Amino acid sequence: MTDGQKTSRRSQAWFGARGRSGMLYRSWMRNQGLGHEVFDGRPVIGIATSASELAPCNTHLTQVAEAVKRGVWQSGGLPLQFPTMATGETLMRPTAMLYRNLMAMEVEELIRANPLDGVVLLSGCDKTTPAMLMGAASVDLPAVMVTGGPMLNGKYRGQDVGSGTHVWKFEEDLKTGRMTEEESFFAEGCMARSNGHCMTMGTASTMACMAEALGMQLPGSAAWPAVDSRRMETAQAAGRRIVRMVEEDLRPSRILTREAFENAVRVNAAIGGSTNAIIHLTALAGRVGVDLRLRDFDELVRAVPTLVNLMPSGKYLMEDFCYAGGLPAVMAELLRGELLHGEQITVTGRSVAENTGTTDDTARVGSDVITGLDAPFQPAGTGIAVLRGNLCPDGAVIKQSAASPHLLTHRGPARVFDSPEAYHAVADDPDLDIDENTVIVIRNAGPKGYPGMPEVSNVPLPAKLLKAGVKDMVRVCDGRMSGTGYGTVVLHVAPEAAVGGPLALVRDGDPVVLDVPNRTLRLDVDDAELTRRRQAWKAPTERHTSGYTWLYTQHVEQADRGADFGFLRGSRGHEVPRDSH
Ligand code: FES
Ligand code: MG
Repeated sequence: MTDGQKTSRRSQAWFGARGRSGMLYRSWMRNQGLGHEVFDGRPVIGIATSASELAPCNTHLTQVAEAVKRGVWQSGGLPLQFPTMATGETLMRPTAMLYRNLMAMEVEELIRANPLDGVVLLSGCDKTTPAMLMGAASVDLPAVMVTGGPMLNGKYRGQDVGSGTHVWKFEEDLKTGRMTEEESFFAEGCMARSNGHCMTMGTASTMACMAEALGMQLPGSAAWPAVDSRRMETAQAAGRRIVRMVEEDLRPSRILTREAFENAVRVNAAIGGSTNAIIHLTALAGRVGVDLRLRDFDELVRAVPTLVNLMPSGKYLMEDFCYAGGLPAVMAELLRGELLHGEQITVTGRSVAENTGTTDDTARVGSDVITGLDAPFQPAGTGIAVLRGNLCPDGAVIKQSAASPHLLTHRGPARVFDSPEAYHAVADDPDLDIDENTVIVIRNAGPKGYPGMPEVSNVPLPAKLLKAGVKDMVRVCDGRMSGTGYGTVVLHVAPEAAVGGPLALVRDGDPVVLDVPNRTLRLDVDDAELTRRRQAWKAPTERHTSGYTWLYTQHVEQADRGADFGFLRGSRGHEVPRDSH
């Protein structure tokens, strides 16, 4: 490397400065024991760490950061770790999703405001991965992601128990008397027995796989358990690699192309991934100017079978997925079936095809955990479906693999609840006027209405029906469902009720017609009547008139646009800001 190249580094606008300002930028850094020589123009690598004890899935990222640092030093870079906010899924109210955009905004601004040439993004819990990708994409400096890895398989009474998925099962067991409260306390501990994020194919594992499928993290990264030594080895490799990426100027805008998103959408179908991936990928695409539409999530996957047999749709957990070959095995099989763009560049500097061709990936396909295309776990066309109709003019989604086949075509009377709370208040009432054919409509749970579009859509069935042995019912909602959830639940109805979407016009008893094979969701009420109802509809009064939640409700876009803030779309680049002193 020539001196000319070194001084062109962004970080040299700070550390290479002469006189008073250079002294100011370097001197304070030296209180960390850094010698003058580290400011010689070597790549300065930020390690963005979303570790927090309030986000239990991310607590161990501080250790992962140490491994990244080793790699950065090894390749001749200067690593500087910094904290970002952490949107912990389990504790944050009203929902971590309310804060995804705030975290993305914070990550973006922190990267741009500081003397960084590249960044390693450490995430884990659901929203932390998309938030970091979105922020980094809008800065467009070289970036590599290292997700923190899943927890070890949950084990309770000799059985595998899956994060989230078993919370719903245990709740049903409690309600029906199959489990005592004391047993449930013990079972809680058995479900989350190591560091890491949810080990079902929920949103965290899905987004880890999406980061890998997009080419934004090293091959194999998504599946190593959080406590596996190979997670740290991979983190160290990512540290080495980011320094080279800075030298090669390999930025997200080169990696996150339309083809990369098409790969991710198809991989999501093959892994039986979370419906939340739709929202996050759409929002991320908006940051890099890729026109990814809701219909792509249906049309692109029509020929893609589900190859991965993981909860909530299947039987196994991420640890099993890892031992069976992880995402490289899945991608190798999709490549074999010509279902991926193999020439896409990734953070390795090599293409998708080159990454997967360097291992024994193909040889590993064909277990009960990762099936081959010839005998897939579930046939093509049975994954996520995108619905249209007069109840969801801008679309809605359903995860067929988590639904009951007999309910995928269904006509039933609506029973409408204006909030999830209104439903929960009566759900255990033995006289509740609901039977198994009823369509439970929950509204005002959308991005603006709740606000934050929480994971409340898969409300548990009424207690009296559970006791009678009913296992599933059709539910329709403008909110989301946890990636670990299951049931015949129509999600992300757009536009949402709070902005006057047709969901706001539904009344008790209206026939709702769900026809997943034909991709429709309709309200069987004539147009004239719906027009009358629309004229009488009044927008709910704004509950938030100041603060972040106000900002959110003013600027959040609808689910089909990824629920990003309109003003955060696009990239704002990484020009060095004006001097501070
Ligand atoms: Fe954090 Fe599931 S709750 S990943
Ligand atoms: Mg979740």
